[in-house]
Amino acid sequence: MRTSPIYDRINRTLSARKANSQFRSIPQYTEHEKSIDLSSNSYLSLHACNEIRREAAMLIENHHWGNLASRLVEEHSPLFCELEKEICNWKETETALLFNSGYAANLGIISAVCSKDTEVFCDRLNHASIYDGIILSGCKLNRYSHNDMSDLNKRLEQSVSKEKMIITDTVFSMDGDRAPLCDICELAKKHNAMVMVDEAHAAGIFGKQGNGMADEQGVAEFIDIKMGTLSKAVAGLGGFFAGSSLLKDYFVNHCRSLIYSTALPHSVLAFNLASIHYIRNNPKIGKKLLILSQRFRNSLKKIGCNTLNSTTQIIPFVTGNENEAIALSGFLRQYGIIAPAIRPPTVPRQSARLRFSVHLGFDEQQQDFVIDKLLQWKKQNG
Ligand SMILES: Cc1ncc(COP(=O)(O)O)c(C=O)c1O
Repeated sequence: MRTSPIYDRINRTLSARKANSQFRSIPQYTEHEKSIDLSSNSYLSLHACNEIRREAAMLIENHHWGNLASRLVEEHSPLFCELEKEICNWKETETALLFNSGYAANLGIISAVCSKDTEVFCDRLNHASIYDGIILSGCKLNRYSHNDMSDLNKRLEQSVSKEKMIITDTVFSMDGDRAPLCDICELAKKHNAMVMVDEAHAAGIFGKQGNGMADEQGVAEFIDIKMGTLSKAVAGLGGFFAGSSLLKDYFVNHCRSLIYSTALPHSVLAFNLASIHYIRNNPKIGKKLLILSQRFRNSLKKIGCNTLNSTTQIIPFVTGNENEAIALSGFLRQYGIIAPAIRPPTVPRQSARLRFSVHLGFDEQQQDFVIDKLLQWKKQNG
């Protein structure tokens, strides 16, 4: 094996991860009998929906399946236009712009819109892609305590920056709680700050026709940048911006993750489009998911599981200890229950957990089975 200072550092870092039970690996595919998958972000189970499959096949009939080049190089295909039109009708904004993923959207949008003169007020628990966009932009980062509006207000008051921007997830991906968007928009108005929301885990579930938490909380019109992904409830791939034409023009000219990357293939565009049609035509599915989630959360609480402040389809069960989270995840796997252990640095120290992602296929009988196995674990492990 070659040695060099870089290899030495890599080896040291990986050894430390292993020693702290924080080493990550890509899970092997295993065919479980009667598997109950609580790891997927396909909350509405639309990845396997035949109606969407049929519509996607029709939509793609007159198009090639693969991809060609970056959006700015290749002539605009009608499927891109249709999908962006559908997103802006869904989100009720002037316009929309598609990116290759939610990660690429956050990276591109934040690094384009923020400069070294901007101070970004960022919830501590925001997604990593938001932090990566902030780092890339070179702006000033000001992290406020999770969902703590008096901390945010204090930080805004103390700021001397002319350009201020508040960024928040609307549903937090590891805690499953919601951002207080009304308060955030009021503070933004008071301090003349721009607001950006990441609707990754809210799209398809909250708001009318699943159009997001900003709509659910009645503040959509006060949000400058609505970002979302098509990779969670929509079960496709791609990220998007929804908002004003002015910002879209700016992003088309300045978002490097859009300009310097090959666009999504038509097969993906067709699936995304058919899936959004399905969600808009079935406006009650989000509520149905939330009712299922509430039932499961109540059962978890009843047996003494710490589910933090979750009120959505994402339900953590905090063990605190990394080894316990790994062992519990392995124990459940023996019974065909897939619930990943999430550990630092993805979540704060001492807050390792199982992350249960409730989906529409997780029926009451399966829920009771999982609760029964958790009880068994608790009995065996005190
Ligand atoms: C809050 C949030 N934003 C953005 C992303 C990135 O989205 P994508 O998976 O489409 O790249 C994720 C994905 O986990 C997320 O949870």
